[in-house]
Amino acid sequence: MSQAAFEPKARKRGGTANATECRRSKKEEDSMVLLLNGSPNANGCTATALNEMAAVFREEGIETELIQVGNKDIRGCVSCGFCGKNGKCVINDLVNEVAGKFEAADGLVVGSPVYYGSPNGTILSFMDRLFYSTSFSKHMKVGAAVVSCRRGGNTASFDVLNKYFTISGMPVASSTYWNQVHGFTAEDVKKDLEGLQTMRNLARNMAFMIKAFADAKEKYGLPTVERKSFTSFPDGK
Ligand SMILES: Cc1cc2nc3c(=O)[nH]c(=O)nc-3n(C[C@H](O)[C@H](O)[C@H](O)COP(=O)(O)O)c2cc1C
Repeated sequence: MSQAAFEPKARKRGGTANATECRRSKKEEDSMVLLLNGSPNANGCTATALNEMAAVFREEGIETELIQVGNKDIRGCVSCGFCGKNGKCVINDLVNEVAGKFEAADGLVVGSPVYYGSPNGTILSFMDRLFYSTSFSKHMKVGAAVVSCRRGGNTASFDVLNKYFTISGMPVASSTYWNQVHGFTAEDVKKDLEGLQTMRNLARNMAFMIKAFADAKEKYGLPTVERKSFTSFPDGK
């Protein structure tokens, strides 16, 4: 498989380089991270955590786009098989819109509030359909999950979200502690200084990985991927 097959699509970049940008390499200017807010509250706790990360990405010269998912009407996968034949979801909503942006992105951050000890239903429906309906390579795009809760259920939710990345060849960025903030309102989260610090460190680590992988792709190419076997039990056929 050629490396070109894994290259992100060319992205249009506007603006003139200023003095700060001149210090950055071409690779940094070309890097982009998508941030998904699974909360219905566009300015709530999860958004506060994601915005803390976005500020660091900007400092690191990485472009960001924050997409509000949780306030949209997103239904779950209907398991119809349309995407396998047509390369997109049969339900033509935000999932298909974000798919192209995800293909072009170097990293994906998914944020969710905790609902009954799990990520909220809207972001799960969105992630199921986004990952299942897209056939482009996600190999070495960097993933990170962040969760917001008032009291508990955070680590279970964190585990659920990370699994989209770990079965897709996406290395998961980590931080200095659990990728979570605590609060019921955005004001609460602003007082969770360790939570916000964890978000900033997570974004720095993610930026480092994106830049390092860009260098490594040039130097070594991407690792070979085998896809010949697809085992279904009981007979293995
Ligand atoms: C339906 C529902 C279920 C919730 N379940 C939990 C829970 O299991 N554990 C918890 O600590 N907080 C729970 N919460 C509180 C939210 O997770 C918490 O306030 C979160 O920080 C809100 O994030 P947001 O402002 O981005 O929406 C729940 C809230 C709602 C609306």
